[in-house]
Amino acid sequence: MNEAIVTENLTKVFGNFTAVNELNLRIEHGVCVGFLGPNGAGKTTTIKILTSMLRATNGNAYIEGVDVGINPKEALGRVGSVVETPEFYPYLTPVETLTYLGKIRGIASNQLLERIEHVIGEVKLQDWKDKRIGKFSKGMKQRLAIAQALLHEPPILILDEPTTGLDPRGMVEVREIIKLLKTEGRTIFMSSHLLFEVQEVCDKVAMINKGQLLTYDEIEKLANLAEVVKVEVQILSPITPEQVKAIQDFNSVKNLVVYQPHLFVVELEGREPEKAELLANIQNVEGISVTSFRAVGTALENLYMSMISDSI
Ligand SMILES: Nc1ncnc2c1ncn2[C@@H]1O[C@H](COP(=O)(O)OP(=O)(O)OP(=O)(O)O)[C@@H](O)[C@H]1O
Ligand SMILES: [Mg+2]
Repeated sequence: MNEAIVTENLTKVFGNFTAVNELNLRIEHGVCVGFLGPNGAGKTTTIKILTSMLRATNGNAYIEGVDVGINPKEALGRVGSVVETPEFYPYLTPVETLTYLGKIRGIASNQLLERIEHVIGEVKLQDWKDKRIGKFSKGMKQRLAIAQALLHEPPILILDEPTTGLDPRGMVEVREIIKLLKTEGRTIFMSSHLLFEVQEVCDKVAMINKGQLLTYDEIEKLANLAEVVKVEVQILSPITPEQVKAIQDFNSVKNLVVYQPHLFVVELEGREPEKAELLANIQNVEGISVTSFRAVGTALENLYMSMISDSI
């Protein structure tokens, strides 16, 4: 079978600005992919082309082998999407909204009610299905947006920053729903600025900058590539300039920042063995008693920072 999402030399030019620049992506079926990149990298533009909201200037995008530029209707039938904050009529209820959207999408009326019940269950809005949307929190509206994306049973789900703008509880709820949808074998392609979220929810990462792909791989593999570790160290007595100098001189220490007299962060080139060596070395510095020693930032974060800065 064709891959879930393919882009070939996909390019989008706005005036004289190239937002997506010969992007080549091949997303297989059944994976959950985090689409990462700094502001303006071209994530939303790519997603809008994949969901037929924008036309590519050059190149092609395919959903399960269907060219979205040539056959947008068929391609759209295979995708559910949530792009930017969706607006719903505040005086309608979820059931009314989904009924109306289902009719527009041509879902047979004898199946529609059952589908609506099912997707409302998937996003856990059962208790709210007959309440007016005007009373809903942002998180509930986002869940409804996911429900509408699932209405026609698409094998592929594309979400642009699904948790942005939600409060912590709303974020957790949406993440839990995405994790659940993942277990049902769907392909999920979601942009995010939250690296820990991508690490928690996704299997793979596609990283872009300036409209070009930097890497596409499994998170575990990428995390193993990271060669910089940050360690936060707390000590009993305030650190002295001599002690700072002694630590900076250790092998593999790249940087040391003192945040408080009792707290500093060491940037280390290396992995676990170098971390162990650092701890032993710090404990040997005269006058230092370590009360806490822990890695901060994730491997994915460190890799992201180094890849993005290399591509600037
Ligand atoms: N309709 C448009 N007209 C002109 N420029 C645009 C248009 N849409 C997007 N751009 C530009 O294209 C670039 C890529 O935008 P895009 O929204 O795809 O980035 P993004 O990766 O989604 O960023 P963010 O993380 O901030 O959402 C930006 O520099 C943006 O200003
Ligand atoms: Mg965007």
